[in-house]
Amino acid sequence: MDQITPVRDRVDALYEPVSRLMSREDWARNYADDIAAILRLKQERNAVILAHNYQTPEIFHCISDIRGDSLALAREAQRTEERVIVMAGVHFMAETAKLMNPDKTVLIPDSRAGCSLAESITAENVRALKAAYPGVPVVTYVNSSVAVKAETDICCTSGNARKIVESLGVSRVIMIPDEFLARNIQKETGIEMITWPGHCEVHERFTPLEIRQYRRMHPGVVVLAHPECPPEVVAEADYSGSTAGMMEFVAVQQPRKVLLVTECSMSDNLAALNPAVEFVRPCNLCPHMKRITLASIRHALETMQEEVTIPEALFARARLSVERMLAV
Ligand code: 13P
Ligand code: SF4
Repeated sequence: MDQITPVRDRVDALYEPVSRLMSREDWARNYADDIAAILRLKQERNAVILAHNYQTPEIFHCISDIRGDSLALAREAQRTEERVIVMAGVHFMAETAKLMNPDKTVLIPDSRAGCSLAESITAENVRALKAAYPGVPVVTYVNSSVAVKAETDICCTSGNARKIVESLGVSRVIMIPDEFLARNIQKETGIEMITWPGHCEVHERFTPLEIRQYRRMHPGVVVLAHPECPPEVVAEADYSGSTAGMMEFVAVQQPRKVLLVTECSMSDNLAALNPAVEFVRPCNLCPHMKRITLASIRHALETMQEEVTIPEALFARARLSVERMLAV
C-alpha cells in the first residue's frame, strides 16, 4: 500500500490524527510539504524515525515510525531493520541508539539537542564517586553521556528505575545524575541512594503549591507527575511514572480531567489520542526537545547529517551498561 499510494494522498490522510490540534489550512501551509518530503526521503534512504513522547504532534503523530519513552526507544532501536535511524529526540537518545546499532547510520537532526541532566556530570565526577564509595554499584539514568555510561554498572530509565535498583539486591547504590529520580526511588524502595545534584530543567520548576492551586481550580482533576519532579511534587500527584506510564494511565483510566506535570507536548500528543479526556495545561517546554522540527528532520535526511559517532575507547563499556539494563 505504501509503495503504490501517492505520497500526497498519504500526507492528506495524516492530517486526521492532529485535526483536533490545528486547522487544515495551518496544516497545508506549515507542515504538508515537509511531511511529503520526509515520507519520500524515508523510503529513498531506507530510514526509520524514532520519536520521543515529548516531540511535537506533527512529528509524533505524522512522520514517526516508532514512538515512546526512553526505554521503548532504546529497546526498539535494537529491533529496527532499516539502514538509517533518525532520532527525533535528544542527543543521549541518539547515542543510545548508536550503541545498540554500531553498524547503522544514526542521525540527530540537531546535535545541540542536549539535556540538563546529561550535562550535569562528567566521567571524572563518576570516578570520584566510585573512589569515595568503593564497591557500591553505579546506576546511571540513560540521560547521560557515553563517557558517563562507560563508568557505569547498569543504566536505568524512569520506566524501569525501581526494577533495576531492586534487581541488584543491595541496600545502597550510587544513583546518578538525577537527584530527584534517585530520591523518589529511595522513597519507593527503601534502598539508600548516593545521589548527584543533577536536575531536569523542565521538571525541577514545578512546585507543590502550583499543584495544590490547580486542584482547587479544577476539582476532581487527576494529577500525573514524572519522577524527574522533586519528591515534594510527586507527593502531590495521584500517579507517578515515565512518559509511557502516563500515556497508559490516561488510555486505560480515561479520567474526565487530567493534569500532566511534565513537558508540554505530552498533553498535545495525548489529547489527540484521547478525545474524551480534558487536559489542564500547565507545562514546561524542553528547549532541547524543541530543537527537533520537521524542517531539521527533512534536512537530516537530505544531507545525512549529523551522524552520531561513539569514541572507540568508550564503546564496549558504555554498551554493556545499556545491555545489562535491557536484560533485566
Ligand atoms: P521518559 O520518556 O523515559 O519518561 O523520559 C523523560 C525525559 O525527560 C526524557 O528526556
Ligand atoms: Fe533532559 Fe528534561 Fe529535556 Fe528530558 S525534558 S531532555 S530530562 S532537560
